[in-house]
Amino acid sequence: MRIAICVLLLMGLTAAIVDGRAAKEMQTPGVKKSVFGKTHDGREAHLYTLSNKSGMQVVISDFGGTVVSIKVPDRNGKIGDVVLGYDTLEGYETGTAYFGSTVGRYANRIAGAQFSLDGKQYTLTKNDGPNHLHGGFNKVLWDAEPGSAKGAPSLHIHYLSRDGDEGYPGNLSVNVVFTLTDSNELKIEYTATTDKKTVLNLTNHSYFNLAGGGPILNNELTLHASRFTPVDATLIPTGELRSVEGTPFDFRKSTAIGARIEQDDEQLKLGHGYDHNWVLDAGMKDQPSLAAILYEPATGRVLETLTTQPGLQVYTGNFLNGKDHGKGGQNYERRTAVCLETQHFPDSPNHPDFPITILEPGKEFHSITVYKFSVK
Ligand code: GLA
Repeated sequence: MRIAICVLLLMGLTAAIVDGRAAKEMQTPGVKKSVFGKTHDGREAHLYTLSNKSGMQVVISDFGGTVVSIKVPDRNGKIGDVVLGYDTLEGYETGTAYFGSTVGRYANRIAGAQFSLDGKQYTLTKNDGPNHLHGGFNKVLWDAEPGSAKGAPSLHIHYLSRDGDEGYPGNLSVNVVFTLTDSNELKIEYTATTDKKTVLNLTNHSYFNLAGGGPILNNELTLHASRFTPVDATLIPTGELRSVEGTPFDFRKSTAIGARIEQDDEQLKLGHGYDHNWVLDAGMKDQPSLAAILYEPATGRVLETLTTQPGLQVYTGNFLNGKDHGKGGQNYERRTAVCLETQHFPDSPNHPDFPITILEPGKEFHSITVYKFSVK
């Protein structure tokens, strides 16, 4: 009996020391590099762990420019991972859901996988029925360089997408800088240049689950957007900017995602739930402004999304079907995450009235998105 008590005490002590170490490690601000694995063509992919002074940790891979995990405290200080993903590199290489990836050359859909520029027609890869979705440089290995921006840990990644990549014109040089601030913000700054006139739309495709698992239908969402872009049956915008007034798309006041998701509404049916672009009231700007607030009542976690971009695709994980074997063997079921993809509007190259997605040689594309975590 006494021996058993001693062993238990010793186990407890060891656990406390290990926990203490883990906590200390979490609190050492900076960037740590480790090997993630080998890609199918034999190249080494890495993980970069960014830690700040407040105990928040973000892991990013150079494979896909992927946000692999975001660990933040809940209202009781308990740390949890709030994004979906895989435990292995192979998961990311074979997965089809874009968990955490840096998406471009054109995030979202281009109708008929075609667009024209100066009278010349370009044909892209069709990977979503008749359309092109999130195409260009998905699942590539980026160059990566850890650093610090004003003392905050950061990771700079770069990729050169060649002229003709999936049909896009121009050598497109893309830089993304991820910075983790001490106020629990993950700041993502994109710049890009081209040597031929082209189109682009860059975003991050993190799937957030602020409770760390389970359905997101009780999550309360606020969107600073009075209009959205209704879609057709293949999720291509019709061109209309429709008022959210009196529709299940009105999130101007904080509302549970699940409150109206099953309503008999044509747009909800076409999207299989929410899978739409909201027209942000702030429009395009130089400094990020608040686009969305997501609140998870059980853990108290809050995620604010700020951006310089004119649109926000809210996707409620309608196509997740339990077949993705995610972190720790979890099967990600339908609607167990919400994506807040800051972006230009879908299919803008075929909608001259939408904010322009053309990039010309000699010009630089620039955008900033901030995911800020807190509790209430
Ligand atoms: C985007 C799209 C969705 C879906 C996901 C990836 O958010 O709008 O329709 O394709 O990406 O599964």
